[in-house]
Amino acid sequence: EKVTQAIFLIWSLLLTTSLGRQTNFSSFPPDFEFGTATSSYQIEGAWNVDGKGWSMWDHLVRTAPESIYDNTTGDIAANSYYLYKRDVEILKELGVNNYRFSISWPRILPYGRPDYVNPYGVAYYNALIDELLANDIKPFVTIYHWELPQNLNELGGWLNEDIADWFADYARVLFENFGDRVKHWLTINEPDVHCYFGYESGSHAPRIISPGVGYYECGRNILLANAKAYHVYDEEFRASQGGEIGMVISMEWPIPKTDSADDHEAVQDFIAFNIGQYMDPIFSENGNYPKRLIDRVAAASTKQGLNTSRLRPFTSEQIEYIKGTADFLGLNHYTSKLVYRNESLEGRFSVPSKHDDVYIDELRHPSWPVDTGFVHEYAPGFYSLLIYLKNTYNNPKIYVTENGCSTSTGLNDTFRVQYYRNYLSALLDALAEGVNVKGYFAWSLMDNFEWSFGYTLRFGIYEIDMNDPERKRVPKMSALVLKEIIRSRVIDY
Ligand code: NOJ
Repeated sequence: EKVTQAIFLIWSLLLTTSLGRQTNFSSFPPDFEFGTATSSYQIEGAWNVDGKGWSMWDHLVRTAPESIYDNTTGDIAANSYYLYKRDVEILKELGVNNYRFSISWPRILPYGRPDYVNPYGVAYYNALIDELLANDIKPFVTIYHWELPQNLNELGGWLNEDIADWFADYARVLFENFGDRVKHWLTINEPDVHCYFGYESGSHAPRIISPGVGYYECGRNILLANAKAYHVYDEEFRASQGGEIGMVISMEWPIPKTDSADDHEAVQDFIAFNIGQYMDPIFSENGNYPKRLIDRVAAASTKQGLNTSRLRPFTSEQIEYIKGTADFLGLNHYTSKLVYRNESLEGRFSVPSKHDDVYIDELRHPSWPVDTGFVHEYAPGFYSLLIYLKNTYNNPKIYVTENGCSTSTGLNDTFRVQYYRNYLSALLDALAEGVNVKGYFAWSLMDNFEWSFGYTLRFGIYEIDMNDPERKRVPKMSALVLKEIIRSRVIDY
């Protein structure tokens, strides 16, 4: 009888401990964090009130309005500066316990530097943070979501190496003012997108077209700035505040267009440029850029008659300084890409370009559905990406800090509903494989200013009519479905 009892005891222990649980990921674990995400310029409005300085986006929309597809601005946007209490209400309505938002650098430091801290800016974020906490919603705060103070932009912005100091000084002001209540910090949003559109193609602020150089320099300075802010937090605040800090990196997943060796090479190139450039220096054992990236840019630079590579190497001190500067990975993922080697791209640009360095082209697979914009639905790519990150970077802790799509159908957003169900299912599958994802944020809580697309792309799960002076927030079908998934922790197909 004792033997039977012992077997029974061991059996029930197995069922209730990790062994038992690992086989059951049809539902999200109880400690899995759900939230939604926004960013300051895209929702706040109030662009010039209460002592706020100009960001490079304020500057861009006034000096080059043609760079925004529908000639709009973020001057009012969703008006969240005044409607933040309503934002917290809808978060509550959704049943999420987390909210990712960003702080506008020039609202806190109108001139970019900490000599003058704007008390009204501090008061606004204090009020928002307190309102969230009073409603049991944890703030995940992005320190930099592309709103560089214009006067720092005029000093060269992300092309000036001093920006690591500017950024760390600004971050310190935030830790000092908000770190008693904010325990999750996201340093910089999407270096790849910011640097490519801002400093290579020129379709985002600061609209610098510096192909083949600006993109790499910006990315390099972002890695140094992230590292500096991380060390500031680690050395000056972690012991007393006990929070965590990491960077947000956007990644797409490449699928080879054909089975040819060339297209498989193109996949590896895509991974080196799109994922490794930012992941390896922080998360790999050796630090530094991927060898493939270093070799590709060096070879292209030599071909172009340059003596040195356009990808400036890190010194060994810098490699050590950057390595490990993240407590977690903030992962933004939207879509996959079909990639192939396209030699004809060489020399397509009259000046050196990132594209010349890789000779790959990116396409949408004809069978992947899309409603509007660039997000085509291919959830298996999300699964593959998560598995890749687990295997390549020693299973880092991950928050999915953005995932979502744009739709054209207003409240009846069936495409988005399907998109979320499929991507969340892929996430469950990845959890079952032991991928260390701790939370998930839908982009976005509400319709907002989609950068160069203005208001023509709608990512919100709440609809806002931008002609409505009250900017009412109305739940789309996706908000109701997500609410049910978050409540029940299962996907209701
Ligand atoms: C990435 C960016 O972080 C966010 O600002 C943008 O609106 C979404 N993706 C959708 O494009």
